[in-house]
Amino acid sequence: ILSLFEHHVYGKMPGTPEHTNFEVTDIDSAALDGFATRKQVSVTFGARDGAPRMNILIYLPNSRPGPHPAFIGLNFDGNHTIQRDPGVNLAAGWVPDRTETAARHNRATKESIGAKASRWPVQRILERGYALSTIYCGDLDPDYDDGFQNGVHPLFFVPGQSKPKPDEWGAIGAWAWGLIRALDYFETDDDIDHNRVSVMGHSRLGKTALWAGANDQRFAAVISNNSGCGGAALSRRRFGETIKSINTRFPHWFCGNFQTYNDREDACPVDQHRLIALMAPRPVYVASAQQDLWADPRGEFLAAQHADPVYRLLGTNGLAVQEIPEPKQPVISAIGYHIRPGQHDVTGYDWERFMDFKEY
Ligand code: GCU
Repeated sequence: ILSLFEHHVYGKMPGTPEHTNFEVTDIDSAALDGFATRKQVSVTFGARDGAPRMNILIYLPNSRPGPHPAFIGLNFDGNHTIQRDPGVNLAAGWVPDRTETAARHNRATKESIGAKASRWPVQRILERGYALSTIYCGDLDPDYDDGFQNGVHPLFFVPGQSKPKPDEWGAIGAWAWGLIRALDYFETDDDIDHNRVSVMGHSRLGKTALWAGANDQRFAAVISNNSGCGGAALSRRRFGETIKSINTRFPHWFCGNFQTYNDREDACPVDQHRLIALMAPRPVYVASAQQDLWADPRGEFLAAQHADPVYRLLGTNGLAVQEIPEPKQPVISAIGYHIRPGQHDVTGYDWERFMDFKEY
């Protein structure tokens, strides 16, 4: 099943490149008014000048001794956007221009610092005893279609190759690969309990969290927030975003072969319930939002439900309900689920449920 997803949907990803180098560039034990220790780790892939590099930002709770269980999630706009913390390096390369992040001419600005803090309740996460780590997805591949010339893809081109083959990774594959490389780093860091790392992602980065979790069983739990088409939602429902609409707007996200399923959902040998089942028996959580119809909340629930037989086969309690629950009635079982009122977003409510789930 994993190889069907590789071949038809996300593309194959490579392993660890030779000469991967981890360098801790910053440790501040008095970050965020003293309640956190902040670490920044620069990960370089390959030995040549200008080799691709990703920066992992980590906050550890000062109130407890390590090693800490942790969440890792990619962010959309740069590590500096997740907290009002001037000690975090501004994203160095291309970032999306957005009014709310005050990025200009595709460069981060100081006004961007903390612009996305509502999505990352760092203080609560640390209070509840977890470390939080994040990476800017654009460090791995900037989120626009440039024919795979920037980001990590060219590092793996064989001589004469100038773009991934139809069954090789796109942007989601590269983002997921970065999360997996971060796990490699955590295995070397005594502050993180690398056996208790949950991967979480929202939207396109929720699709990515699922794909990372499917590829690497070292992720102890996997959390999808509003991941929709190509994430937790069943494609065959053709409700909200379809394979054709996603491939048209974002031709760089999936592998080339996925384009052949535009308007041909039934021909694809896998649908997304099988992706969720690939996490089994590890805990997996699917979160939806009522007004996020583009992501098809019902399709997200149904995919979780149709992963249940695999979870039960492997001796867990699967998904504890038969019907989609009422808003704000979280289902906490091996497959977790909630739907909350409101829009496509990550909120404090979502994070509190993810943490309840982790304790489950
Ligand atoms: C668009 C896209 C979705 C994606 C979302 C996001 O709406 O169509 O597939 O999940 O962006 O990443 O916010």
